Amino acid sequence: MKMQVLAATAALFSFAAQAQGQVNIICSVQAEWCNMIATVYARTTGTKVNISMKGSGEALAQLMAEKDNPKTDLWFGGTGDPHLQAAEQGLSIEYKSPSLAQLYPWAQQQAQQAGFKTVGIYSGPLGFGYNPELLAKKKLPVPRSWADLLKPEYKGDIQVANPGSSGTAYTMVATLVQLMGEEKAFDYLKRLHKNISQYTRSGTGPIKAVARGETAVSISFVHDGPGEKMNGFPVETVTPSEGTGAEIGSMSIIKGARNLDAAKKFYEWALTPAAQEMAAAAKQFQLPSNKNAKNDPRIPDFKRIKFINYDYAKYGASAERRRLIAKWEKEVNSLPR
Ligand code: G6P
Repeated sequence: MKMQVLAATAALFSFAAQAQGQVNIICSVQAEWCNMIATVYARTTGTKVNISMKGSGEALAQLMAEKDNPKTDLWFGGTGDPHLQAAEQGLSIEYKSPSLAQLYPWAQQQAQQAGFKTVGIYSGPLGFGYNPELLAKKKLPVPRSWADLLKPEYKGDIQVANPGSSGTAYTMVATLVQLMGEEKAFDYLKRLHKNISQYTRSGTGPIKAVARGETAVSISFVHDGPGEKMNGFPVETVTPSEGTGAEIGSMSIIKGARNLDAAKKFYEWALTPAAQEMAAAAKQFQLPSNKNAKNDPRIPDFKRIKFINYDYAKYGASAERRRLIAKWEKEVNSLPR
């Protein structure tokens, strides 16, 4: 009898340990959102969630570096291009979620073109952030086009991230190449360089600098504006009149994940409407990929924005992404300002 109780207790303990487990996540969205999903998921499932926050380009670099001995189970968020590159390089595994049909076509397409090694979890348009108070003080107009950013009056007042570390900045480079053709786009980037005060590591650095009055204009995802505004900062956003690109924020399960089951469970949870609605609760206003998620009114209205037909497969291909970033380093970032 005693033995039976002991065995049952032991079984119970091992079940509890299994049910809890842990999952190691690289999180490439803003800290508020990363922290919220980690806390809520841990509380509701008992699973320990270890989060490491990294920009999209830096996350990819880490996954490449730990390829033979992966420490990461799942990569949550960040722009889609480096997730596609990770898929191509065999850093992530194929996984077809039963929830795929609930996702918008752009999110499903992201999965299909990567052989289901990644999936779209949100989308958001690229544009400009600006500080209306600072612009007024400097007697500068609101920039409304890519062409406007080249005007000499903005010299030293524009920030954007470095495309090597930031998916936001790579989205800008790829958008310009698609909008203007490569030669004209690099010509543009060289001229823009003269007006840039700083290339930040993180994609959200520039709009935070705008919010805090450190720079008047940023090239940013427009969904990063409302959160800064809610925190009391003077920030507005605009999308360029010539047209712009959008990211498909993505999620991938890492090849060789030590906590594969836990990673799959988290992945499924992250695709549910309830989990996706947590973005807005954390003041993040990307468009959720699950059609059943409720959309916060602060999410940018895609119908009012002029978009290019962004070729995700082409600009998420390893060779192309690497080539464009190296070219930007060599031909643009090395120039004096
Ligand atoms: C912010 C945005 C996300 C985007 C991410 C990319 O967190 O809200 O939508 O995916 O930046 O970050 P990165 O540093 O790679 O540009």
